[in-house]
Amino acid sequence: MKRQYEAPTIIRHQAGLINKVAHQAVAGHRDSIGGVPVSTLIERYGSPLFVFDEHHIRTRYREVLSTIRAHYPDTDISWSYKTNYLGAICSIYHQEGARAEVVSRMEYDMARRLGVPGKDILFNGPGKRREDLLLAVEEGALIHIDHLDEMVMIEQVADELGMRPRVAIRVNMDTGIYPQWQRFGFNYDNGEAWRAAQRLVAGGKLELEGVHCHIGTFMLEPNAYYISTAKLLALALRLRDELNVTVSYVDIGGGFASSNTLHAQYMPGELASPGFDRFATAIGSAMNESQFVREEHPRLMLETGRALIDEAGSMISTVIGRKYLPTGVRALILDAGVSVLFTSWWYNLKVTPAQPLSGSTQPTTFFGPLCMNIDVVKNSCMFPDMRNGERVIVSPVGAYNVTQWMQFIEYRPAVALVTETGGTELIRERESLQDVIGRERLPEHLA
Ligand SMILES: Cc1ncc(COP(=O)(O)O)c(C=O)c1O
Repeated sequence: MKRQYEAPTIIRHQAGLINKVAHQAVAGHRDSIGGVPVSTLIERYGSPLFVFDEHHIRTRYREVLSTIRAHYPDTDISWSYKTNYLGAICSIYHQEGARAEVVSRMEYDMARRLGVPGKDILFNGPGKRREDLLLAVEEGALIHIDHLDEMVMIEQVADELGMRPRVAIRVNMDTGIYPQWQRFGFNYDNGEAWRAAQRLVAGGKLELEGVHCHIGTFMLEPNAYYISTAKLLALALRLRDELNVTVSYVDIGGGFASSNTLHAQYMPGELASPGFDRFATAIGSAMNESQFVREEHPRLMLETGRALIDEAGSMISTVIGRKYLPTGVRALILDAGVSVLFTSWWYNLKVTPAQPLSGSTQPTTFFGPLCMNIDVVKNSCMFPDMRNGERVIVSPVGAYNVTQWMQFIEYRPAVALVTETGGTELIRERESLQDVIGRERLPEHLA
C-alpha cells in the first residue's frame, strides 16, 4: 500500500538526558485500527471511542499459549476477568479455549452468563461471601482459598450441600520483588501456607486440587516467576510426601508486563519490559527442574490479563480545545479524560495523531474534558500542531480501563470491536442519562 506523504518535522534537541531517546517525539500518524479507518469508526460510533482488534486478541493469545507450551506442554490459560470483562472480549478468549478467572460474585455471574461451566471457573479473591460459595461449590468451580475464615466457611458449605468442594490454596511469598504482595492467601516463607494445608487436610472435607499464587502485576523481573513456581512446586511435593495429597495443578497467576511504559521508566516499554518469552522460560525452567513435576505431571495454569489484551485496545479521541499555559506549554483538550483512561495514572500512554502531521512540533500536554486539575492524559511531549476536530489514538489501553473507568460528570464512551473479517461491531453502547440515573429514586417531597 502506498504511504501517504507526511511533511518532515524538525525537533529541537536540547542538551540533557531527555532527548537521547526518540520516544519522546511523535514519529508519524496512524489513521486506522485493524485496517478500519479512524474516520469510519468515528462516523459509526462517535467520539471518544474504545476500539478492540479481534485479530490482535486472538493472535496474541495463541502466541502466549504456544510460547509457554513450548516449555511446558500441559498448560492452560484462564482469562482474568477483571482486566476486561466486556462480554465480547471474554467470549473471544473462551472461544480460544481459555477458562475464566474471576475474583468476585459479579465476575462469576458474568462468566456463567457467557456459558462458562462452573468447572471451568477459577474463583479467586478475598471477598467471597457465603452465598457465593454455596453457588460455586454447587456448580463445581475451583475455589482458591484466601484465608482461614474462608476455609471454614467452605467446610460449612460442604456440610450444608453434602458435597466435597474443589479447592486450591492461594499462597503469597517473597520472590525478591518489593513491596511484596502479602495480603492475598497464606504466606509461604513463614510456614503459614503449609499450616493452612495441614489444617485443610485435617478437616477432611475439601478436595485440595491445586496450589496457586499471583505475585503482583506489571512484573518486570522474570526470575520472580522462577522463584514463585519453584516454591509452589516445593509445597506440592511436601503435600504429597507428608500429607499424601497430590495436587493436579499449579497456578502461577498472571502479572506479566505489557508493552506499556510506566511513568518512572526512561526507555519505552517495548524496550524496557521483558517479553512474554522470558517469563515463559523462567516458569518452564522451574517446572522442568522439579521432582514433583517429573513424578506427577501436574497441569500448569496461568491467569493472564494485561499481557494478553493491553495492546489490542486503543482509544480514539478528538481535540475539542487548545490553549497555551503560562509556562509556554501548549495544552490540547481531548474529549476523553482520566475517568475513562484510568491507566494513564501509571502509564505514559502513547498518543498518536490520526491524520498526517502538520506544522511544527511543540511541547504539548493532553488534558481531558473533566473539570479537575489532575485530568492529564499525557504530560508534556513533543507533538505537531492539532486543530479542533482532529483526532488522536491513545494506546495501549486494552487492559483495566473498561473495568476501572469511572462515570464522573461524563457519559462513558462506546466500545467497538474490529472483527477478523475487517468489519466492525458495537460491543458496548455509549451511556445515556438513563444509565446514570436509572437506579436513583427521587423521594416524593423532592419531586
Ligand atoms: C488473582 C489474579 N490473577 C490474575 C490477575 C491478572 O493480572 P495481570 O493483568 O497483571 O496479568 C490478577 C490481577 O491483579 C489477579 O488478582
